[in-house]
Amino acid sequence: MKAATIQSYGDVISVTEIDKPSLKDDSVLIEVHAASLNPIDNILRAGYLKEMLDLSFPHVMGYDVSGIVVEVGADVKSVKVGDAVMARPNQDDAGAIAQFARLKENELAIKPASLSHAEAASVPLAGLTAWQALITKGNLKKGDKVLIHAGSGGVGTYAIQIAKQLGAYVATTTSGKNAELVRSLGADLVIDYKTQQFQEEISDYDLVFDMLGGDTLTDSFKVIRKGGALVSIKGQDTEDLASKYDVRFEWFFMSPDGAMLAELVALISAGNVKPVIDSEFTFEQAGEAYDRLATGRAVGKIVVSVK
Ligand SMILES: NC(=O)c1ccc[n+]([C@@H]2O[C@H](COP(=O)([O-])OP(=O)(O)OC[C@H]3O[C@@H](n4cnc5c(N)ncnc54)[C@H](OP(=O)(O)O)[C@@H]3O)[C@@H](O)[C@H]2O)c1
Repeated sequence: MKAATIQSYGDVISVTEIDKPSLKDDSVLIEVHAASLNPIDNILRAGYLKEMLDLSFPHVMGYDVSGIVVEVGADVKSVKVGDAVMARPNQDDAGAIAQFARLKENELAIKPASLSHAEAASVPLAGLTAWQALITKGNLKKGDKVLIHAGSGGVGTYAIQIAKQLGAYVATTTSGKNAELVRSLGADLVIDYKTQQFQEEISDYDLVFDMLGGDTLTDSFKVIRKGGALVSIKGQDTEDLASKYDVRFEWFFMSPDGAMLAELVALISAGNVKPVIDSEFTFEQAGEAYDRLATGRAVGKIVVSVK
């Protein structure tokens, strides 16, 4: 099959021929229709995480997929050939920008007909990250005040909308050019990080969701009420600040979860959360898609149409 691959760390992305993934009893094979990009793909490609996660080559780029089931493993009960499904697969099954991908039954969700494959592919990694940050780790509740950093990004666009669904008051940081978009997603207060300092604009928040790290993370402690929480996906050691400000600090890596993904997909089907697509590229343009991601300026998700 064809796949967008790298042959070594730091390599340019090219479309090459590789073996199709083999079927496992607990999994399905899908013909991939669309894939979406995440910053972790470029981080892995550069080799920054090789101490923790050493890639084998050729490495197929991408995690998020949407496609049609073409083969079903012996133990799979809930999915049949022809079903449209979407997932952020686990590390062993990763490899999204390819003609075929293997997905575990418990990591996938059924794609509703109302979502295109491009929209569906944009959901799993970013959407599950936002869900796990706000709900699983952040325990966000109706009436809480939450600050979501980088509200215009892949994760942020889902996070704003999920927080509004929970009934929270949402402040978000982005640059002025994206203010209208984040307001349209439900943000109550928009802080332009280029002209304003968020720590001077707000205080006594229940939760901050950080995805930028550095000074943004450390300054975030200043805007949280005593007993509040800071959840980061770009973590560093902040135990001293957490105890100084009496704030619960959580840092985590998202994990695949089909049932949780289905809950989010239900919100999307009902029209309460909408995917925001920055741009779409063809299979052959996968390298350009990753160049766009590397600018750090994407508004929502970047998608590669595979079929
Ligand atoms: N731990 C995990 O499990 C996990 C999971 C997912 C993502 N992540 C990490 O989370 C981060 C965000 O991911 P993503 O997919 O949302 O990235 P992304 O889509 O590439 O984010 C781009 C957005 O960030 C905004 N931005 C950049 N600098 C900003 C700043 N200083 N203040 C406010 N907004 C800023 C940009 O808006 P402007 O153009 O207006 O600057 C742009 O819209 C990445 O570092 C990623 O690696 C971690």
